[in-house]
Amino acid sequence: ARTYRITALAGDGIGPEILQVGRAILDAVAKRMGFGIQWQEGLIGGIAYEQTGDPLPPETLKMAQDSDAVYLAAVGDFKYDTLPREKRPERALLGLRAGLSLFANLRPVKILPQLVDASSLKREVIEGIDLMVVRELTGGIYFGQPKGIFTDAQGSRRGVNTMVYSEAEVDRIARVAFDLAQKRGHKLCSVDKANVLEVSQLWRERVTAVAAEYPDVELSHMYVDNAAMQLVRWPKQFDVILTGNLFGDILSDEAAMLTGSIGMLPSASLGASGPGVYEPVHGSAPDIAGQDKANPIAQVLSGAMMLRYSLDQPEAAAQIEQAVEAVLAQGYRTGDIYSEGMTLIGCQEMGEKILAML
Ligand code: NAD
Ligand code: IPM
Ligand code: MN
Repeated sequence: ARTYRITALAGDGIGPEILQVGRAILDAVAKRMGFGIQWQEGLIGGIAYEQTGDPLPPETLKMAQDSDAVYLAAVGDFKYDTLPREKRPERALLGLRAGLSLFANLRPVKILPQLVDASSLKREVIEGIDLMVVRELTGGIYFGQPKGIFTDAQGSRRGVNTMVYSEAEVDRIARVAFDLAQKRGHKLCSVDKANVLEVSQLWRERVTAVAAEYPDVELSHMYVDNAAMQLVRWPKQFDVILTGNLFGDILSDEAAMLTGSIGMLPSASLGASGPGVYEPVHGSAPDIAGQDKANPIAQVLSGAMMLRYSLDQPEAAAQIEQAVEAVLAQGYRTGDIYSEGMTLIGCQEMGEKILAML
C-alpha cells in the first residue's frame, strides 16, 4: 500500500490542540482505507522562533519541500507583536507559501445543514450556500516592492507597501479559478477595485482575456466593497470568487461567518506542482489556547482537502466530511458553534466523536 510523507506543523496557540485531533482522524481513515501516513514534525511560528531564533527554520522549509503535503495548524501570538517583522510568526507562513510557490489558495465555504442556526444570519440567506474563494497567495500587496518603513531627511517616517500584479500572475490564478468553476456551478465573480487601482485595472483586463478560454463559465466583475456587502446580503449569488491576496484574506474571514464560525473553514494552498499546504483559515486563537475550547473542524476538514487535492484519496476525504456532519447532526458543538439545546463539548471530545463515527 502507498505511504504518504506528510509534514505536520503545529505552530502556536490552539495549533497543537487542533492538529492532534486532525492527525488522529487522518491516521484512522488511512488505516481503514489501507494506505499509510508517515508524519514528520517541523517547527514553525513563535515556537520555532523561541527554539531556533527563526520562525521558519530552513530545515522546516526543506522538510516541507520533501513531503507529499504539509498539514499546518496556525501561528502567532500577541506576545510576538513587538518583534522585528522578519522574526514574527506570521512571516513564517508567508515564507512557507513563497518557498513552495503556493500561488493558489482555495477556501471553500459550505453551509452544513446542521449548523444553519449557528450563523448570525437568517436561515433563508445562508441555507444551501456553496461557494469557493480563490485567493491569490504569493503576490499583491503582501509581497510587492517597495515595502518598508522609510525615514526621510527631516526624520519623519513613511510606511510603504505596494500592490503589484503582473499579467502572468493574474493569468495563472485566473485559470485555477476558471478550472474550478467549470467543475462547479460555471460562474465566476472576479473581485477587484478597478474603479480606483491600476493594479486592479490590469487584473480585470487579464481575467476578461482568460475568460475567452472558458466559454462555458459566466464571468462577472465586482468591486471589493460591494462584494463585502453582497456576501452578507445574498451570498447564494456566488459560485467561485476570484480575488487577490489582501481582498481574499478579508473576504474569506467574512465568508467564514456565513458558516457560523471561522472554526469551520478549511483551506488548501497549491502551486503548479509540488506539495500543497492544508490549514484552517483561522489563526492561533491565543484567547482560547490551552483551554480545550477550540473547534477542530476547520483543521479536520483541511485534512479532507489534503486527501482530495494532494493524495488523490477522495473516498477517504468524503468519509471524514461525512463523519463531521454526522457528529454535528447528533447535536455536539464546540463553544463557537453552540446554539440552544445542543451539547457543548471541548476540542478533544469533538475529535473523539468524529473518530468514533469513522
Ligand atoms: P484568530 O482567527 O486566531 O481568532 C479570531 C477569533 O476567532 C478569536 O476570538 C478566536 O478565539 C476565534 N477562533 C479562531 N479559531 C477558532 C477555533 N478553531 N475555534 C473557536 N474559536 C476560534 O485571529 P486573530 O485573533 O486576529 O489572530 C490571532 C493570531 O493568529 C495572530 O497572531 C494572527 O497573526 C494569527 N493568524 C494566523 C493565521 C494562520 O496561522 N493561518 C491566520 C490568521 C491569524
Ligand atoms: C491567513 C492569515 C495570514 C494571511 C497571516 C497570518 C499572514 O490571516 O492565512 O488568512 O494574511 O494570509
Ligand atoms: Mn486571514
